[in-house]
Amino acid sequence: MSRSTARPARALSRTLLWLVSCLVGLVAFGAEARAEDPATDFKQICSSCHTIGGGVLTGPDLREVSKRQKRDWLVNFIVDPGAVLDSGDPYAADLLAVAGQRMPNIPGMTRSRAEGLLDLIEAESVHEPGKSRFAGMQISDRPFTDRDVAAGRAIFTGETSLVAGGTACISCHTVGGLGGLGGGRLGPDLTRVFERYEDRRKLGVWLSAPATETMLPTFREHPLEQEEILSLLAYFENAMQKEQEDDAPRALVLVLLGVGGAIGALLLFNRAWRDRFTGVRRCLVRSAALSESARTPTPDASGRV
Ligand code: HEC
Ligand code: HEC
Repeated sequence: MSRSTARPARALSRTLLWLVSCLVGLVAFGAEARAEDPATDFKQICSSCHTIGGGVLTGPDLREVSKRQKRDWLVNFIVDPGAVLDSGDPYAADLLAVAGQRMPNIPGMTRSRAEGLLDLIEAESVHEPGKSRFAGMQISDRPFTDRDVAAGRAIFTGETSLVAGGTACISCHTVGGLGGLGGGRLGPDLTRVFERYEDRRKLGVWLSAPATETMLPTFREHPLEQEEILSLLAYFENAMQKEQEDDAPRALVLVLLGVGGAIGALLLFNRAWRDRFTGVRRCLVRSAALSESARTPTPDASGRV
């Protein structure tokens, strides 16, 4: 091999080597980005239905779950709950009977991610109930004040921006009593959302990690702060109460308007028809008088013969 052909060959192999190392780097980087940190996984995916030591939500409290079931069973369940539930497994059937709802299959869940999650759950289970960082939101039961409601309204409308930089609710949702043109229509009307979720805790926990199609990508990177959620809950509770209070008088006003309207309409018709009848009657009377007078012409019948 001559020198002149060796040099480009070496250059080529060097370029190839560089390309390969870039590829390896990219793949490694991709894998790194995909391998979710268990704490992030738990917060983003599991915490809308489970706490660790914070009590039952949609799913059971996972504190010390490793003492209730074997590791292998738990990994299988987390990776494919549908298959385990359908297999007729008695433990899974009991869980379902208590929860009344099936745990959905989690897209992209792998055995290694499930292992990581179980390690995390075990580590967090050493804390007393309520003390883990995954005990879920503890929402105080104190009565909401007008200030809470006002703060919630300001957050909803975007007057106060969200601390983590999420999009203001008003761009996709409306609430009764908002005034003006109301809010966006992409998401559902939230006037009665408080009632739909039954109580503060369920709605609050839902808002802390909303797992639906549009809400998840909107708030995954910009979760709501606990204080923001509390204010929003106050606002939603108030919106619901106001609507309930408005409903009764509004129904009465509607009835009154109906009755009043009907009476008004009757009076109007009455007037119109009376005029019309008299008009008709007058004509009839006149024509009758005329034909009468034609038959027996007397100068004093109408004074015109
Ligand atoms: C939409 C709600 C929901 C989500 C999200 C969810 N689960 Fe569940 N999970 C349930 C329900 C409900 C059950 C009870 C079994 C059933 O009815 O399917 C359950 C049961 C379990 C069990 C068995 C509990 C026991 O007491 O033995 C484990 C473990 C579990 N889930 C882990 C997870 C993990 C980890 C995640 C996050 C990757 C997760 N779940 C996400 C609803 C959910
Ligand atoms: C980008 C648009 C968008 C923004 C911004 C948004 N939402 Fe939503 N929201 C939706 C959509 C769409 C749904 C219906 C479920 C889904 O597709 O996620 C929804 C559902 C909800 C639900 C469940 C309603 C139900 O009836 O179950 C609640 C509660 C909610 N949003 C609250 C909020 C709050 C509070 C904010 C502001 C902090 C907010 N959303 C901001 C689009 C949005």
